[in-house]
Amino acid sequence: MPPSEDTPVARPLPRHVGIIMDGNGRWAAARGLPRLEGHRRGAERLFEIVDACIDLGVGTLTVFAFSAENWKRPQDEVSGLFKLGEWLLRAHLARLHRRKVRLRVIGDVNSLPDFARAPLIEAVAASAAHEAFTLVVALNYGARQEAAQAARLLAEDVAAGRVRPEEVDWARFETKLDTHGLPDPDLIIRTSGEFRLSNFLLLQSAYAEIHIAKEYWPDFGREQLETAFRDYCGRERRFGMTGSQVQGAPPAS
Ligand code: IPE
Ligand code: IPE
Ligand code: MG
Repeated sequence: MPPSEDTPVARPLPRHVGIIMDGNGRWAAARGLPRLEGHRRGAERLFEIVDACIDLGVGTLTVFAFSAENWKRPQDEVSGLFKLGEWLLRAHLARLHRRKVRLRVIGDVNSLPDFARAPLIEAVAASAAHEAFTLVVALNYGARQEAAQAARLLAEDVAAGRVRPEEVDWARFETKLDTHGLPDPDLIIRTSGEFRLSNFLLLQSAYAEIHIAKEYWPDFGREQLETAFRDYCGRERRFGMTGSQVQGAPPAS
């Protein structure tokens, strides 16, 4: 029987949750509103989800805010998104500080407009010592671009004689990813009913469980997050082993 809404959220919860916050545009279109209004309503949701994750004991949340491919959108939507991001940070900085949230950014922030990048870099530095919770914002992020950059950095190490080619393995490759030092995501949630990853944390999600929520992001709240966690807790994560191995049963001879 699938878990109902009355089932308490079970344990262990995911240590690291990634969210592809999708559906702002469709949420707005369904109400005859401009797309940017959907983004604004979606942005307001973020801190409710941050609070819920902290309260429930999740350690790290990574949110996909702007993909490397989102530059292809109309220019007024792109600039509206950055203005919204800057406003959002300013409005919630004190709250993040109070809750001892460490802020981190993944993706190519150098290409962001100055007015959005500077306060972000400052907020990341100011929160570096916080340990209660890590909020990772994926901005101008693409997993393929991240992998290509990691390969480039490793190639430089090899060319400079710091690393031998045969020493290149996953552990070394991982040190060159933007997410180095973070645990792999245990759960990836995508809202708006779309079943795809859209270039989000492709390598780090190798063994993540995936939950697709039907709600558009502006309608995704604590209740929907708890539904995702219940779904996650019902999964058996096998990491390549057999079911009886992970259940600790004696091996069948
Ligand atoms: C997600 O919502 C937000 C960003 C990609 C920035 P969308 O803007 O993709 O909304 P839909 O998918 O068009 O409904
Ligand atoms: C993924 O959503 C990016 C973010 C949520 C920021 P998109 O809406 O850009 O993804 P596609 O284009 O539908 O795959
Ligand atoms: Mg979308």
